Amino acid sequence: MNGHVMHFHVLTLFPEMVSQGLSESILGRAAQRGCIELETVNIRDYTENRHKKVDDYPYGGGAGMLMQAQPVFDACAAVKERIAARRSGEGRADREAAKEALATEVPATEPPAKEASAKGVPYGAQPPVRVVYVTPQGEVFSQRMAEELAAEEDLIFLCGHYEGIDERVLEEVVTDYVSIGDYVLTGGELPAMVMIDAISRMVPGVLKNEESAETESFQDGLLEYPQYTRPEIWHGRQVPSILLSGDHAKVGKWRLEQSEERTRQRRPDLYEAYSRKDRAVSWLSKDRLSHMDMLEPIRRGQADVIRAEEGGVLLHDRPSGVWMLSASDADMGERLLSEIPRGEKELLFAVHQDFLVESIDRRFHRNRVNVCRQAVYTRKTPPAPDGGFMVRPLTARDADAVYENYHTVHSREYLLGRIGAGAMFGIDGPEGLAAFAGVHEEGSMGMLEVLPAFRRRGMGEALEAWLISWMLKKGWVPYCQIFDGNGPSLGLQKKLGLKLASGRLYWIS
Ligand code: ADE
Repeated sequence: MNGHVMHFHVLTLFPEMVSQGLSESILGRAAQRGCIELETVNIRDYTENRHKKVDDYPYGGGAGMLMQAQPVFDACAAVKERIAARRSGEGRADREAAKEALATEVPATEPPAKEASAKGVPYGAQPPVRVVYVTPQGEVFSQRMAEELAAEEDLIFLCGHYEGIDERVLEEVVTDYVSIGDYVLTGGELPAMVMIDAISRMVPGVLKNEESAETESFQDGLLEYPQYTRPEIWHGRQVPSILLSGDHAKVGKWRLEQSEERTRQRRPDLYEAYSRKDRAVSWLSKDRLSHMDMLEPIRRGQADVIRAEEGGVLLHDRPSGVWMLSASDADMGERLLSEIPRGEKELLFAVHQDFLVESIDRRFHRNRVNVCRQAVYTRKTPPAPDGGFMVRPLTARDADAVYENYHTVHSREYLLGRIGAGAMFGIDGPEGLAAFAGVHEEGSMGMLEVLPAFRRRGMGEALEAWLISWMLKKGWVPYCQIFDGNGPSLGLQKKLGLKLASGRLYWIS
């Protein structure tokens, strides 16, 4: 198994309902293998009265009973304490393992399988545990939310029963209010189980490889195509003959068409988003190299296509929050820009035409501009490894060294976040870090720095070559952005065989 263990904690009045419901089939096996762990906590065990009463009448009158604040709060606090104890134990074990690894000098020539290990948190500090209150008043659960929650190490679900829970304890402990749909159930247990199921299948190791591929098709935004098994004729109905042809290319094409048609008929809302993405990709592909910064986030599934016209595209990249746009003329530019909400504090743009720079200044009063060019690694095979340098993933302990030696627009928090995401790598000198580089939130390679004492030895080239092969293994197209005037970087990109785009890219903050 690679990846982290996901720990679910469910606060409920009906623990057996949850533990039994999740003990069978795929999730039961995943728990046995240790990919996921489920703890159910009976809120009733935390009452302070002799009768183990957990509910009472609502102030102001009305039907039904409410769960009281105290047992819910104490049950939640007890779980949080156990989580903290477990994590500090793991921290100790991690540090010991790290010491041992250093002593035996194991070379980290392979990308780390475990990306979620550091989680962007320095030793000692603990990220707050998310507490999900399942309620019809929450944001509606989605595949995207499942993916996001699957990156957590622990999740606490709070299940209400009766008419609800005293508002005051919700205000104190809940971080996320989530609903599974616009209907009302008798309790939160089934919704919690639904979410745990969907989140678990996103946890690495829970599904076998062929099963996880199934998710990809939903992530493309299309419904599944129809499927058939033996016998060939049933109730006089024949399996579509193309599926018996053995022609994989034809079968693939037929399945895609079926998926598209099904989605168009049954889920016009999904189909609209899918075709917007399609239009965006085909417009941007007219100049692939210049638009790689927009094409890759779409392909990696991290960008929302806000608008795609014959003449321009507007994207919002979720991880970085960057608004990306390209337009054939100023009018189209204005139309696309009108989709962006004003008044947000942190607005960051990456745009492809100089007329957009002026429009953004007028509309959003943002005028700090960095001009760069893109370079794309278009081959499928990585550059030849060279130099014999040992590349290792950075850890939170490297954050200071990175920040001190990398004076750009990026904050210490940003760099620490990239380290935590497992997206930064380095080469050590005799007394600490000699060179480092990584992948930005929105997906480009960057943050490459070789400390002055170590320059002219090929470390930069070795690091970038290593990053390129790391990205290729993920199925990504490696690309980077070179600020105007950075001659050495331009030289390095040419040496590694990256192709230079003709257009410019303007970063505006
Ligand atoms: N509790 C009751 N109904 C619910 C729903 N639809 N989603 C989440 N929690 C609930």
